[in-house]
Amino acid sequence: MNILVTGGAGYIGSHTCVELLQDGHEVVVIDNLCNASRDSMNRIEAITGKQPVFFEGDVRDRALLDLIFAKHHIDWVIHFAGLKAVGESCEKPIEYYNNNLNGTLELLDAMRAAGCRRIVFSSSATVYGDPERLPLTEDCRIGGTTNPYGSSKYFQEIMLSDVYRSDNTWTIVLLRYFNPIGAHDSALIGENPKGIPNNLTPYIAKVAIGELKEVGVFGNDYPTPDGTGVRDYIHVVDIAKGHVAAIDHIRQSGVHTYNLGTGNGYSVLEVIHAYEKACGHKLPYTIKPRRAGDIAACYANADKACRELEWKAAYSLDDMVLSSWNWIQHCKNKENN
Ligand code: NAD
Ligand code: WQD
Repeated sequence: MNILVTGGAGYIGSHTCVELLQDGHEVVVIDNLCNASRDSMNRIEAITGKQPVFFEGDVRDRALLDLIFAKHHIDWVIHFAGLKAVGESCEKPIEYYNNNLNGTLELLDAMRAAGCRRIVFSSSATVYGDPERLPLTEDCRIGGTTNPYGSSKYFQEIMLSDVYRSDNTWTIVLLRYFNPIGAHDSALIGENPKGIPNNLTPYIAKVAIGELKEVGVFGNDYPTPDGTGVRDYIHVVDIAKGHVAAIDHIRQSGVHTYNLGTGNGYSVLEVIHAYEKACGHKLPYTIKPRRAGDIAACYANADKACRELEWKAAYSLDDMVLSSWNWIQHCKNKENN
């Protein structure tokens, strides 16, 4: 099938392009490169032997979207394009709502005009807010989000569901990712945030490679086994494969919602210790106060995706952190050469 991947040069998008190409799909990417590089396309080609058709541009550029739909018969859209930094979203809510909500609206309108009514949307476990119960199932209450980024995901889910309610020929797939981490086994694609990382594993990676001094552990007084926050970390390649599974399995119109997680929760200290095994040395850390807006624990029940999409996360925590370690070493070597 012909798949339009918005944000396809980014972290999860590039891994998904690889899996789509390897599954025999044709891939067209639109990305404005605000958080990615054009080189992602070459790296995808180095892994798969094929290069996606690439359009540099914004999903809010309606003329460009119309051109893409006119030039390519698109069967499905996978919509990754958006801004995703929680802290930044609190400082720049207007930019976040503009990019994430208007991007999705413009895309939906262009899809309707082109007669393409199948979309997979990158949602997030953040839509559950403070979890009603654990593990989270797709029917748990959503909302109660604590930052503009999370609220934008929640609003986009509502917008997409309303579009289906108005016209039930649409096929809308909401994939709620838990905590995607790690990198492709080739170490050719991954995530290397500029500056000081906000998320746990990129931060640990920079401590492991010697760029940062120590990991700050945000709170050790949560009601969890060791007092530190518990999350459902999932390998980015498993997330990517979840998109291929959705496209390969979903045949009926409707709003289809799936958690993409492993079903296992790991604490901050467990992740640090797993990373120590991968990199072969101790990682210094200190306990810091809790981070505002954090919850104690969040992990998925991913049985629905297993049942309906025949998808199950395959990588272990050790695999995830080892791939992260291989990737950061690759980035460091590249910088030094
Ligand atoms: P990313 O920043 O690496 O990828 C997003 C891509 O979209 C980037 O390449 C960026 O250049 C592009 N982009 C942003 N705004 C655009 C616009 N208006 N027009 C065109 N391109 C635009 O982020 P990611 O981690 O790969 O996340 C992909 C999607 O998954 C996002 O929607 C994110 O909110 C969602 N998500 C991510 C996580 C996570 O932890 N990484 C978890 C849940 C959901
Ligand atoms: C994980 C755990 C922290 C950094 C975020 C977004 C969420 C989704 C995924 C997009 C928590 C602790 C972290 C550090 C720490 N993104 N931590 N020291 O907050 O679960 O989820 O990314 O949709 O919306 O909120 O991920 O990696 O930031 O934190 O102790 O330096 O690690 O307190 O318990 P989070 P994270």
